[in-house]
Amino acid sequence: MSSVAPRVGVVGSANVDLVVRCARLPHPGETVLGGDVTRLPGGKGANQAVAAARLGADVTLLAVLGADESGSWLARLIVGHGVRVTQPVVSHRPTGSAFITVDDRGENQIVVAPGANDDLDVRGVDLADFDVVLAQLEVPEAVIADVATRARSLVLNVAPARPVAPAVLARCSVVIANEGEASTLDLDALANCVVTLGAAGAVHYAHGVEVARAPAPSVRAVDTVGAGDVFCAAYAVRHALGESPQRALAYAVTAGALATLAPGAQGALPTDSEVNSWLERDS
Ligand code: RIB
Repeated sequence: MSSVAPRVGVVGSANVDLVVRCARLPHPGETVLGGDVTRLPGGKGANQAVAAARLGADVTLLAVLGADESGSWLARLIVGHGVRVTQPVVSHRPTGSAFITVDDRGENQIVVAPGANDDLDVRGVDLADFDVVLAQLEVPEAVIADVATRARSLVLNVAPARPVAPAVLARCSVVIANEGEASTLDLDALANCVVTLGAAGAVHYAHGVEVARAPAPSVRAVDTVGAGDVFCAAYAVRHALGESPQRALAYAVTAGALATLAPGAQGALPTDSEVNSWLERDS
């Protein structure tokens, strides 16, 4: 990491993740038995914010929590990672929750109940302070539209998959999508689109033309929940530092892979030096 930490504003959700492990994921209409439920911190916005802070960025999270025990628990954990929460805005709705099932291979299914996240409104926040704004789609569409018009540089993770107005996509410095999300996008229309390929790494397209590709390091994944969030955070931090697409991609796939080594979306957040050690080992 350079001596000046990039200033990253993360606009997004904060959720309580209620996680149950089971041998295999249920089919529609099927019931399967699982293990004990664990409560873990999550939400794509909070995951990306704490991951970016752990990688050395100066991070501010713009999110909304409920006025409940879950909200104060999450706020404590987020601030404990060194993330600034400029507007600990509290909603009368319950803190967001995610119901997550993880199978023996580390694959998952997630249902999100947004709750307080739906009350997010960042119109009063000066986004010009941030070198890069990182956002996802677990908050209202109007918030993303507002951020797209005001951020100096917007990295938009189009997850979970939802329609996004072409005018919003056109204002993004970089769009990050997994393969399913990317299938709904017109890659030719996007200045920069990074498509994650799970264990196969990631590809960077500029107006539909491949400009960089990085394989992921081989790791024994325990839990892939949140790995995409760590990838996005790592990519946004390196993008804010002005790194080339190839170097930013290699860094981000390594960070994402390391994030799978422990249970929970925030259970194995790598540091900048851990990512660099892996990159040096693999070079
Ligand atoms: O990307 C993983 C996250 O998606 C989980 O932490 C869950 O809260 C959902 O937002």
